[in-house]
Amino acid sequence: MKRLIFATNNKHKLEEVRAALQGKVEVVSLQEIGLEGDIPETADTLEGNAEQKAHWVWDRLQGMNTSADGCFADDTGLEVDALGGAPGVYSARYAGEHCSFDDNVTKLLTALEGVDDRRARFRTVICLIVNGEEHCFEGRVEGQILRERHGMGGFGYDPVFLPDRFAVSFAEMPLDVKNSISHRGLAVEKLRRHLEENLEK
Ligand code: IMP
Repeated sequence: MKRLIFATNNKHKLEEVRAALQGKVEVVSLQEIGLEGDIPETADTLEGNAEQKAHWVWDRLQGMNTSADGCFADDTGLEVDALGGAPGVYSARYAGEHCSFDDNVTKLLTALEGVDDRRARFRTVICLIVNGEEHCFEGRVEGQILRERHGMGGFGYDPVFLPDRFAVSFAEMPLDVKNSISHRGLAVEKLRRHLEENLEK
C-alpha cells in the first residue's frame, strides 16, 4: 500500500481523510514522522497555500527516511459574495491572529447585519505531490450565511452555514452527512479517485 504524508497535525482532519482513503493509502501525519516546525502559509489564495504547504513537506521528505511515496496538504476558506469573497483565505484568523471560532462567527454576523444577499461557499483545495509532480483537487459547497447560530456540532463557521438543498446548518447535521456533501469531503473524494486511477498501477 502507498504511504502519503498529510501536512497536518489536526486530529479531526486526519481521521476524516484516513477514513475516506482507508484500504487505498496509508495516511501519516507530520507528528508521526517527527516533522516539526511552522509550515508557512503566506500565499493570498487557497491554491497557493495548499501548494506552499505541500512543497514545504515534500522538500523536507527528501532528507528523511520515511518510506513515503508523497505528501499532500489542504487549505479551506469561506467565501461570502456580499463581502467580496472574504474571509476566504483568511477564514481562520478573520477576527484576529489568535481569535476563536466564535469570534470569527460574531465578526461575520456583524459584517452581514442588514445584508440580504447571504450567498457563500466553502472551498477546499488539496495539493498532492508524488515523485515531485503536483496535482490539485478542489471541493466546494454552496449555501447561505444564516442570521444567527444554529446547532452545536461541527466547528468553525458551521453554526451559520446553511448548505443549498438542506433545511439545517452544518452544525445541526450528523458528521457523516456533512462529510458526504462538504467542500473537504468532495476534495478528498477527487483525491481518492485520482489515487485509485494512478497510484496503484
Ligand atoms: P483550514 O484551512 O482547514 O485550517 O480552514 C481554515 C478555516 O476555515 C478554519 O479555521 C475554519 O474557521 C474554517 N473552516 C474550514 N473547514 C470548515 C468546516 O468544515 N466548517 C466550518 N468552518 C470551516
